[in-house]
Amino acid sequence: MIAIQTFNLTKQYGSLTAVDSLSLTIKKGTIFGLLGPNGAGKSTLLSMLCTILNPTSGTATVNGFDILSESEKVRQNIGIVFQSISIDDRLTGRENLKFHAMLYDVPDEMITERIGEVLSLLELSDRADDLVRTYSGGMIRRLEMARGLLHHPHILFLDEPTIGLDPQTREHIWSYIRDLTRKKKGNLTVLLTTHYMDEADLLCDEVAIIDKGQIIVRDSPENLKRDLQGEKIRIKMTSPETLSALLSENPRICKVSIESGVLEVRIAHNGKIVQEIFDITREAGIEIEHISIHEPTMHDVFLYYTGKEIRTEEEDNFTSQYRKMRRRR
Ligand SMILES: Nc1ncnc2c1ncn2[C@@H]1O[C@H](COP(=O)(O)OP(=O)(O)OP(=O)(O)O)[C@@H](O)[C@H]1O
Ligand SMILES: [Mg+2]
Repeated sequence: MIAIQTFNLTKQYGSLTAVDSLSLTIKKGTIFGLLGPNGAGKSTLLSMLCTILNPTSGTATVNGFDILSESEKVRQNIGIVFQSISIDDRLTGRENLKFHAMLYDVPDEMITERIGEVLSLLELSDRADDLVRTYSGGMIRRLEMARGLLHHPHILFLDEPTIGLDPQTREHIWSYIRDLTRKKKGNLTVLLTTHYMDEADLLCDEVAIIDKGQIIVRDSPENLKRDLQGEKIRIKMTSPETLSALLSENPRICKVSIESGVLEVRIAHNGKIVQEIFDITREAGIEIEHISIHEPTMHDVFLYYTGKEIRTEEEDNFTSQYRKMRRRR
């Protein structure tokens, strides 16, 4: 069953193509991550799927409804957590949720129950009647997620859900998202964007790396890492130059380099090569002080496909926005 499908979806801002003829299918019940450098087109794609922005050409279906001809139906089926804070900090958590329930036409007799349900789900019940300006960054993000879930959406869009939050809060939010999708048994699909490689790795069932509005690659984090075939062996010894020369001719080794006195060997496949390295060093009388093997990470995957290190500009934006909010208190 398909949750989201895009057909040559394109968005142009003047001469700039933010989303470029993108075709993507996302299965129901999955947590799907969009990874990409700043300006890759992730938020623009989400905005089109949420019917906030009209595409220049192409279309998409969200939970079976067309974003152009059935936008009202699409809106009823989705929940959104925006990249920037969009909650009113002069109201209490509960008041924010009430306002949202009215906007989404949640029937009057159900409002109280639904609000209670999402507050308890995101562990905000005891702070529900405090002003949002007294909340921490993690609580604000959880309240935004509670708001996104209030009207029981089938598809939840999360634009950078854990940006600027501390590692503990981020892991907490991941477990909420995971538990939620599990509880909903295929009836909740999550499409999120992230700059965090660990988030993509540990939370997402599948990820698509996008750059310049196009999908470069799409697969599960496990497959992406495995297919990179870039295990790295780091060997510490007194004179790495000798071993470097001996290994650089080996056809199963992609690259040998010396980084801060430590020999780094990039290999296509692990396995027998480690034994071979030991044999070579023994024959040459080289003494190894320390050896470690590093599997490719999502960082390596991202760097490989985009040629860019992930940047944290947006995180800085969020942090300053959050600080400004706090200063107003
Ligand atoms: N309203 C707009 N007018 C003109 N250009 C825009 C507009 N919104 C976005 N863009 C441009 O479209 C491109 C894609 O932007 P988008 O916000 O979708 O990127 P993103 O992948 O979400 O980036 P980030 O990781 O920084 O959030 C960028 O080059 C951006 O400058
Ligand atoms: Mg964005």
